[in-house]
Amino acid sequence: MAEETFYRELGLVNTRDMFEKAMSGGYAIPAYNFNNLEQLQAIVQACAETASPVIIQVSKGARNYANATMLRYMAMGAVRMAREMGSEIPISLHLDHGDSFELCQSCIESGFSSVMIDGSHLPYDENVALTRRVVEYAHAHDVTVEGELGVLAGIEDEVVAEHSTYTKPEEVEDFVSKTGVDSLAISIGTSHGAYKFKVAPGEEPPALRFDILSEVEKRIPGFPIVLHGASSVVPAYVELINRYGGNLEGAVGVSEEQLRRAASSAVCKINIDSDGRLAMTAKVREYLANNPKDFDPRKYLGAGRQELIDLISHKNRNVVGSADRLA
Ligand code: 13P
Repeated sequence: MAEETFYRELGLVNTRDMFEKAMSGGYAIPAYNFNNLEQLQAIVQACAETASPVIIQVSKGARNYANATMLRYMAMGAVRMAREMGSEIPISLHLDHGDSFELCQSCIESGFSSVMIDGSHLPYDENVALTRRVVEYAHAHDVTVEGELGVLAGIEDEVVAEHSTYTKPEEVEDFVSKTGVDSLAISIGTSHGAYKFKVAPGEEPPALRFDILSEVEKRIPGFPIVLHGASSVVPAYVELINRYGGNLEGAVGVSEEQLRRAASSAVCKINIDSDGRLAMTAKVREYLANNPKDFDPRKYLGAGRQELIDLISHKNRNVVGSADRLA
């Protein structure tokens, strides 16, 4: 029997039911990172309007940036905002890349309904032991846990990995059964950030390792898989940023076609952070460049927020397939 379930009073839910439905429906739940008001407003509005379940997620760095107490009430406000829009979408508040038991515990006590413990950089046995410890505490409070096997390259806040290591399918069964995790993040060729692949101009980025994904699926059938580093790095945003004073050379992401293919498989959660950052930055830069006399943050942040609403609606409808999934 669960001990106190801290997140319930905020109106949040854990990811169990969401993933079950996503698995049987052949789509994925979008997990959007946020750290400020406008990003969260955009996520809620777009997901309520497209009737999409959603995971709102924060990294350790984002939690420090927003302030842990402020964040708790922002999540509560997100649920209330959706309900006042007449929407019953389930919302889960998730810790992205938790790096210690203590951080996961603190997040659970302040109202997170889902946590990731990322021990993927540790030796296998240490990853198992750390993940198991978090699962025991989390499950006692009805919080779901995401673990990770295999390392993604790239930069995610202060977490930097130079090289990626693909997930070893032969480890997944043992890891899942020893730890008791509810979902598993795997490494099949994506990376964090806007510079995912090095390609010559006009060249296509390499395909994701769907062979590893299907090998994983065979070993743990029906188990929810998570795909990190899933931004498409929309070329139109990169171009706008560069046109208005930015310098993002060689930024390339994962194609929407590959993401759709992943979403229709055992991948139940798709993580998107960089695309949201790019959309906001592009529109803020454009607005400020075209309106040099304006200094009201509502104007330029409002322009960024509207673009983020449009981007998230598009992803829900056309990429992860989570729109109109409330039945
Ligand atoms: P992107 O940098 O591709 O958006 O990935 C975000 C992510 O995986 C967060 O954990």
